[in-house]
Amino acid sequence: MTGGALDGEVRLETSRLLLRPWRVEEAVVQRELWTERDPRVPPHRRIDADGHPTVAELEDSIRTSKVWSTELLAVERKASRDVIGYCGLVGSGRGAVGEPELAFELLRRVWRQGYATEAASAVVEWARSSGYERLWATVWDWNTASRRVLAKVGFTETDRKEVDAVHGTTLFATRRL
Ligand SMILES: CC(C)(COP(=O)(O)OP(=O)(O)OC[C@H]1O[C@@H](n2cnc3c(N)ncnc32)[C@H](O)[C@@H]1OP(=O)(O)O)[C@@H](O)C(=O)NCCC(=O)NCCS
Repeated sequence: MTGGALDGEVRLETSRLLLRPWRVEEAVVQRELWTERDPRVPPHRRIDADGHPTVAELEDSIRTSKVWSTELLAVERKASRDVIGYCGLVGSGRGAVGEPELAFELLRRVWRQGYATEAASAVVEWARSSGYERLWATVWDWNTASRRVLAKVGFTETDRKEVDAVHGTTLFATRRL
């Protein structure tokens, strides 16, 4: 089976985390993620000179795009009930048709506590139980933390890469389920 997983709302639970659809009022967390992005990330993924995307624009996107309820899930800490980022599967990813792309991003203040690994493991299990046979992930070569998370949840880096003289090389990693 290669479909289905991304069609409905999802809730995944781990020992410390709940992964579930975004709520409109949590657009402020998405804005914070945008403001914190590494300067090496391409401009279309960073706040522009006029302050876009604004919180209101991100609220609209949560309201209107199914991505935020069925693909990139809000990662909520069960103990403190705060949202610390997203983790999920992008159906129209860059890997291959019918083979979604794993993606994750967390607020800097919670890095290095194992949350990305915990969330990504749950998403990998979700993909497996949904019938997918393979996942992909794309990562900048300079992104050591993300490469480490991918290795910890069983991804292998392939020979496939995209070289960008300005922003660095994108590596393609994959995991069979
Ligand atoms: C990638 C990211 C989600 C990791 O989140 P996290 O919760 O800190 O990840 P974890 O704690 O589960 O694991 C991080 C691993 O990377 C390692 N690491 C973190 N920063 C590192 C660095 N600068 N250099 C080397 N290793 C590093 C940690 O030691 C840990 O590995 P270990 O368990 O073997 O010690 C977070 O750094 C982030 O949001 N980055 C920006 C967005 C991003 O890059 N997303 C992925 C795009 S492909």
